[in-house]
Amino acid sequence: MAILDGKKAFVFGVLNDYSIGWHIADQLHQHGCTLGFSHLPGEKIERRVVKAVDPFHPAFLVPCDVSRDEDLRSAFACAAEKFGSFDILIHSLAFAPAEALHQPFLQTSRQAWQTALDISAYSLVAMARHALPMMNPGGSILTMTYLGSEKFIPMYNVMAVAKAALECSMRYLAAELGRHEKHIRVNAISAGAVKTMAARGIGDIDKMMLHYGEKAPLPWNADTAATHVGKTALYLCSDLASGVTGETIYVDGGYNIVGW
Ligand SMILES: NC(=O)c1ccc[n+]([C@@H]2O[C@H](COP(=O)([O-])OP(=O)(O)OC[C@H]3O[C@@H](n4cnc5c(N)ncnc54)[C@H](O)[C@@H]3O)[C@@H](O)[C@H]2O)c1
Repeated sequence: MAILDGKKAFVFGVLNDYSIGWHIADQLHQHGCTLGFSHLPGEKIERRVVKAVDPFHPAFLVPCDVSRDEDLRSAFACAAEKFGSFDILIHSLAFAPAEALHQPFLQTSRQAWQTALDISAYSLVAMARHALPMMNPGGSILTMTYLGSEKFIPMYNVMAVAKAALECSMRYLAAELGRHEKHIRVNAISAGAVKTMAARGIGDIDKMMLHYGEKAPLPWNADTAATHVGKTALYLCSDLASGVTGETIYVDGGYNIVGW
Protein backbone atom coordinates (compact mmCIF):
# COMPACT_ATOMS: atom_id res chain seq x y z
CA MET A 1 0.00 0.00 0.00
CA ALA A 2 1.34 3.48 -0.95
CA ILE A 3 1.69 6.00 1.89
CA LEU A 4 -0.83 8.43 0.37
CA ASP A 5 -3.39 5.87 -0.85
CA GLY A 6 -6.89 7.34 -0.53
CA LYS A 7 -5.55 10.89 0.07
CA LYS A 8 -6.46 13.93 -2.03
CA ALA A 9 -4.37 17.06 -2.60
CA PHE A 10 -5.20 20.50 -4.01
CA VAL A 11 -2.04 21.89 -5.63
CA PHE A 12 -1.48 25.60 -6.42
CA GLY A 13 1.56 26.76 -8.42
CA VAL A 14 2.24 24.40 -11.33
CA LEU A 15 3.22 26.34 -14.45
CA ASN A 16 5.20 23.65 -16.28
CA ASP A 17 7.14 20.49 -15.50
CA TYR A 18 10.04 22.52 -14.15
CA SER A 19 7.84 24.01 -11.40
CA ILE A 20 8.56 22.94 -7.83
CA GLY A 21 4.77 22.40 -7.53
CA TRP A 22 5.01 19.88 -10.40
CA HIS A 23 7.75 17.92 -8.63
CA ILE A 24 5.73 17.92 -5.40
CA ALA A 25 2.68 16.70 -7.36
CA ASP A 26 4.83 14.01 -8.98
CA GLN A 27 5.89 12.59 -5.60
CA LEU A 28 2.34 12.75 -4.19
CA HIS A 29 1.00 11.03 -7.34
CA GLN A 30 3.67 8.30 -7.25
CA HIS A 31 2.63 7.52 -3.68
CA GLY A 32 -1.07 7.10 -4.33
CA CYS A 33 -2.52 10.61 -3.90
CA THR A 34 -5.35 11.95 -6.13
CA LEU A 35 -4.64 15.48 -7.35
CA GLY A 36 -6.57 18.61 -8.29
CA PHE A 37 -4.81 21.74 -9.57
CA SER A 38 -5.31 25.46 -9.98
CA HIS A 39 -3.65 27.60 -12.65
CA LEU A 40 -3.24 31.31 -13.22
CA PRO A 41 -6.10 32.43 -15.54
CA GLY A 42 -5.27 32.83 -19.26
CA GLU A 43 -5.61 30.56 -22.28
CA LYS A 44 -1.89 30.23 -22.96
CA ILE A 45 -1.09 29.40 -19.34
CA GLU A 46 -4.01 26.98 -19.16
CA ARG A 47 -2.76 25.07 -22.23
CA ARG A 48 0.71 24.84 -20.69
CA VAL A 49 -0.60 23.62 -17.34
CA VAL A 50 -3.03 21.10 -18.92
CA LYS A 51 -0.06 19.54 -20.71
CA ALA A 52 2.15 19.54 -17.61
CA VAL A 53 -0.40 17.91 -15.27
CA ASP A 54 -1.75 15.39 -17.80
CA PRO A 55 0.44 12.51 -16.44
CA PHE A 56 -1.24 12.94 -13.05
CA HIS A 57 -4.81 12.40 -14.42
CA PRO A 58 -6.09 15.38 -12.41
CA ALA A 59 -9.54 15.28 -10.81
CA PHE A 60 -9.92 18.94 -11.81
CA LEU A 61 -8.02 21.99 -13.05
CA VAL A 62 -9.48 25.35 -12.07
CA PRO A 63 -8.35 28.93 -12.84
CA CYS A 64 -7.37 31.04 -9.83
CA ASP A 65 -5.50 34.31 -9.41
CA VAL A 66 -4.85 34.22 -5.65
CA SER A 67 -4.98 38.03 -5.44
CA ARG A 68 -8.72 37.86 -6.28
CA ASP A 69 -11.14 36.78 -3.55
CA GLU A 70 -13.77 35.70 -6.08
CA ASP A 71 -11.23 33.40 -7.79
CA LEU A 72 -10.31 31.81 -4.45
CA ARG A 73 -14.00 31.30 -3.65
CA SER A 74 -14.71 29.58 -6.97
CA ALA A 75 -11.51 27.48 -6.89
CA PHE A 76 -12.35 26.06 -3.45
CA ALA A 77 -16.00 25.61 -4.47
CA CYS A 78 -14.69 23.49 -7.36
CA ALA A 79 -12.53 21.46 -4.93
CA ALA A 80 -15.57 20.94 -2.67
CA GLU A 81 -17.63 19.74 -5.63
CA LYS A 82 -15.00 17.39 -7.11
CA PHE A 83 -13.30 16.18 -3.93
CA GLY A 84 -15.92 16.63 -1.19
CA SER A 85 -13.06 16.80 1.28
CA PHE A 86 -9.28 16.69 0.89
CA ASP A 87 -6.12 16.08 2.92
CA ILE A 88 -3.30 18.19 1.48
CA LEU A 89 -3.02 21.81 0.32
CA ILE A 90 0.11 22.85 -1.60
CA HIS A 91 0.96 26.57 -1.83
CA SER A 92 3.87 26.78 -4.28
CA LEU A 93 3.54 30.24 -5.79
CA ALA A 94 4.98 33.73 -5.53
CA PHE A 95 5.12 36.94 -7.51
CA ALA A 96 6.81 40.35 -7.31
CA PRO A 97 6.80 43.05 -10.00
CA ALA A 98 10.01 42.80 -12.07
CA GLU A 99 11.14 46.36 -11.37
CA ALA A 100 11.17 45.66 -7.62
CA LEU A 101 13.66 42.83 -8.23
CA HIS A 102 15.94 44.74 -10.55
CA GLN A 103 16.11 48.15 -8.86
CA PRO A 104 17.89 48.82 -5.56
CA PHE A 105 15.76 47.69 -2.57
CA LEU A 106 15.66 51.34 -1.47
CA GLN A 107 13.50 52.11 -4.52
CA THR A 108 10.77 49.53 -3.68
CA SER A 109 7.42 51.17 -4.36
CA ARG A 110 4.38 50.85 -2.08
CA GLN A 111 2.52 49.17 -4.95
CA ALA A 112 5.25 46.57 -5.56
CA TRP A 113 5.46 45.85 -1.81
CA GLN A 114 1.68 45.35 -1.57
CA THR A 115 1.53 43.15 -4.67
CA ALA A 116 4.44 40.94 -3.59
CA LEU A 117 3.16 40.45 -0.04
CA ASP A 118 -0.44 39.97 -1.16
CA ILE A 119 0.28 37.26 -3.76
CA SER A 120 3.26 35.59 -2.08
CA ALA A 121 2.29 35.67 1.62
CA TYR A 122 -1.31 36.71 2.31
CA SER A 123 -2.53 34.10 -0.18
CA LEU A 124 -1.42 31.32 2.21
CA VAL A 125 -3.72 32.70 4.93
CA ALA A 126 -6.66 33.12 2.54
CA MET A 127 -6.16 29.65 1.06
CA ALA A 128 -5.93 28.03 4.51
CA ARG A 129 -9.18 29.77 5.54
CA HIS A 130 -11.01 28.48 2.46
CA ALA A 131 -9.50 25.01 2.82
CA LEU A 132 -10.16 24.38 6.52
CA PRO A 133 -13.88 23.47 6.27
CA MET A 134 -13.14 20.87 3.58
CA MET A 135 -9.89 19.43 4.98
CA ASN A 136 -9.89 16.03 6.62
CA PRO A 137 -8.59 15.64 10.20
CA GLY A 138 -4.79 15.30 10.30
CA GLY A 139 -4.45 17.16 7.00
CA SER A 140 -1.35 19.04 5.90
CA ILE A 141 -0.69 22.48 4.38
CA LEU A 142 2.69 23.15 2.79
CA THR A 143 4.27 26.32 1.43
CA MET A 144 7.57 27.13 -0.29
CA THR A 145 10.10 29.65 0.96
CA TYR A 146 13.72 30.70 0.43
CA LEU A 147 16.82 31.61 2.48
CA GLY A 148 16.47 35.22 1.27
CA SER A 149 13.94 35.70 4.11
CA GLU A 150 16.82 35.55 6.63
CA LYS A 151 20.03 36.46 4.78
CA PHE A 152 20.85 39.01 2.13
CA ILE A 153 20.61 37.49 -1.36
CA PRO A 154 21.39 39.88 -4.26
CA MET A 155 18.22 40.99 -6.12
CA TYR A 156 15.79 39.07 -3.87
CA ASN A 157 14.64 42.45 -2.47
CA VAL A 158 10.91 42.71 -1.75
CA MET A 159 10.51 38.94 -2.29
CA ALA A 160 12.71 38.45 0.79
CA VAL A 161 10.27 40.53 2.83
CA ALA A 162 7.34 38.53 1.40
CA LYS A 163 9.06 35.23 2.33
CA ALA A 164 9.68 36.47 5.90
CA ALA A 165 5.96 37.31 6.15
CA LEU A 166 5.06 33.95 4.60
CA GLU A 167 7.17 31.99 7.13
CA CYS A 168 5.69 33.95 10.03
CA SER A 169 2.15 33.41 8.68
CA MET A 170 2.93 29.70 8.37
CA ARG A 171 3.85 29.56 12.08
CA TYR A 172 0.71 31.45 13.20
CA LEU A 173 -1.47 29.19 11.06
CA ALA A 174 0.32 26.13 12.48
CA ALA A 175 -0.35 27.30 16.05
CA GLU A 176 -4.07 27.90 15.36
CA LEU A 177 -4.84 24.97 13.10
CA GLY A 178 -2.90 22.46 15.22
CA ARG A 179 -5.23 23.23 18.11
CA HIS A 180 -8.29 23.11 15.86
CA GLU A 181 -10.33 19.92 16.28
CA LYS A 182 -8.98 18.74 12.89
CA HIS A 183 -5.33 19.12 14.00
CA ILE A 184 -4.12 20.44 10.64
CA ARG A 185 -0.32 20.74 10.21
CA VAL A 186 1.28 23.71 8.40
CA ASN A 187 4.93 23.69 7.30
CA ALA A 188 7.33 25.32 4.85
CA ILE A 189 10.20 24.01 2.76
CA SER A 190 13.09 26.41 2.22
CA ALA A 191 14.42 25.20 -1.13
CA GLY A 192 17.86 25.72 -2.60
CA ALA A 193 18.17 27.07 -6.15
CA VAL A 194 15.85 25.30 -8.64
CA LYS A 195 15.76 26.20 -12.36
CA THR A 196 12.18 27.44 -12.82
CA MET A 197 10.41 30.32 -14.53
CA ALA A 198 10.08 32.22 -11.24
CA ALA A 199 13.80 31.79 -10.50
CA ARG A 200 14.69 33.11 -13.96
CA GLY A 201 12.70 36.26 -13.16
CA ILE A 202 14.89 37.00 -10.16
CA GLY A 203 18.49 36.60 -11.23
CA ASP A 204 21.09 34.56 -13.06
CA ILE A 205 19.79 31.11 -12.09
CA ASP A 206 22.60 29.30 -13.94
CA LYS A 207 25.18 31.19 -11.88
CA MET A 208 23.17 30.47 -8.73
CA MET A 209 23.07 26.72 -9.50
CA LEU A 210 26.86 26.71 -9.96
CA HIS A 211 27.29 28.59 -6.67
CA TYR A 212 25.08 26.04 -4.84
CA GLY A 213 26.99 23.22 -6.52
CA GLU A 214 30.28 24.63 -5.21
CA LYS A 215 29.21 25.57 -1.69
CA ALA A 216 26.55 23.06 -0.58
CA PRO A 217 27.85 20.03 1.38
CA LEU A 218 25.70 17.66 -0.72
CA PRO A 219 25.69 17.62 -4.53
CA TRP A 220 23.18 20.23 -5.78
CA ASN A 221 22.38 20.53 -9.49
CA ALA A 222 19.56 21.29 -11.91
CA ASP A 223 18.85 17.61 -12.62
CA THR A 224 17.95 16.60 -9.08
CA ALA A 225 17.20 19.78 -7.08
CA ALA A 226 13.42 19.79 -7.59
CA THR A 227 13.15 16.05 -6.90
CA HIS A 228 14.84 16.53 -3.51
CA VAL A 229 12.23 19.18 -2.68
CA GLY A 230 9.37 16.93 -3.87
CA LYS A 231 10.54 14.07 -1.65
CA THR A 232 10.60 16.22 1.50
CA ALA A 233 7.15 17.53 0.54
CA LEU A 234 5.94 13.93 0.38
CA TYR A 235 7.25 13.33 3.92
CA LEU A 236 5.66 16.53 5.28
CA CYS A 237 2.30 15.76 3.66
CA SER A 238 2.25 12.16 4.90
CA ASP A 239 1.59 10.60 8.28
CA LEU A 240 5.38 10.17 8.65
CA ALA A 241 5.40 13.84 9.73
CA SER A 242 2.37 13.51 12.06
CA GLY A 243 4.24 15.32 14.88
CA VAL A 244 5.75 18.10 12.73
CA THR A 245 4.15 21.52 12.36
CA GLY A 246 5.23 25.17 12.14
CA GLU A 247 8.63 24.16 10.75
CA THR A 248 10.70 25.58 7.94
CA ILE A 249 12.74 22.66 6.64
CA TYR A 250 15.75 23.38 4.45
CA VAL A 251 16.06 21.28 1.31
CA ASP A 252 19.15 22.86 -0.17
CA GLY A 253 21.90 20.24 0.09
CA GLY A 254 22.96 21.91 3.35
CA TYR A 255 23.84 25.24 1.66
CA ASN A 256 22.30 27.24 4.55
CA ILE A 257 24.83 25.95 7.12
CA VAL A 258 27.87 27.13 5.18
CA GLY A 259 29.42 30.42 6.28
CA TRP A 260 31.88 31.20 3.53
N1 LIG B 1 13.04 28.17 -7.95
C1 LIG B 1 13.72 28.37 -6.83
O1 LIG B 1 14.97 28.44 -6.83
C2 LIG B 1 12.98 28.54 -5.53
C3 LIG B 1 13.71 28.45 -4.33
C4 LIG B 1 13.01 28.59 -3.12
C5 LIG B 1 11.64 28.80 -3.12
N2 LIG B 1 10.96 28.89 -4.32
C6 LIG B 1 9.51 29.11 -4.26
O2 LIG B 1 8.85 28.01 -4.85
C7 LIG B 1 7.53 28.45 -5.24
C8 LIG B 1 7.24 27.96 -6.65
O3 LIG B 1 8.05 28.65 -7.59
P1 LIG B 1 8.84 27.90 -8.75
O4 LIG B 1 10.28 28.18 -8.54
O5 LIG B 1 8.35 26.51 -8.89
O6 LIG B 1 8.45 28.77 -10.04
P2 LIG B 1 7.26 28.62 -11.12
O7 LIG B 1 7.39 29.84 -11.96
O8 LIG B 1 7.30 27.32 -11.78
O9 LIG B 1 5.96 28.69 -10.21
C9 LIG B 1 5.46 29.92 -9.70
C10 LIG B 1 3.95 29.79 -9.74
O10 LIG B 1 3.34 30.95 -9.14
C11 LIG B 1 2.13 31.13 -9.85
N3 LIG B 1 1.57 32.45 -9.60
C12 LIG B 1 2.19 33.66 -9.72
N4 LIG B 1 1.30 34.65 -9.43
C13 LIG B 1 0.12 34.04 -9.13
C14 LIG B 1 -1.17 34.50 -8.77
N5 LIG B 1 -1.46 35.82 -8.69
N6 LIG B 1 -2.16 33.60 -8.54
C15 LIG B 1 -1.91 32.27 -8.65
N7 LIG B 1 -0.71 31.76 -8.99
C16 LIG B 1 0.29 32.65 -9.23
C17 LIG B 1 2.55 30.93 -11.31
O11 LIG B 1 1.43 30.75 -12.14
C18 LIG B 1 3.41 29.68 -11.17
O12 LIG B 1 2.62 28.52 -11.30
C19 LIG B 1 7.53 29.96 -5.07
O13 LIG B 1 6.95 30.29 -3.81
C20 LIG B 1 9.00 30.30 -5.05
O14 LIG B 1 9.28 31.52 -4.38
C21 LIG B 1 11.60 28.74 -5.51
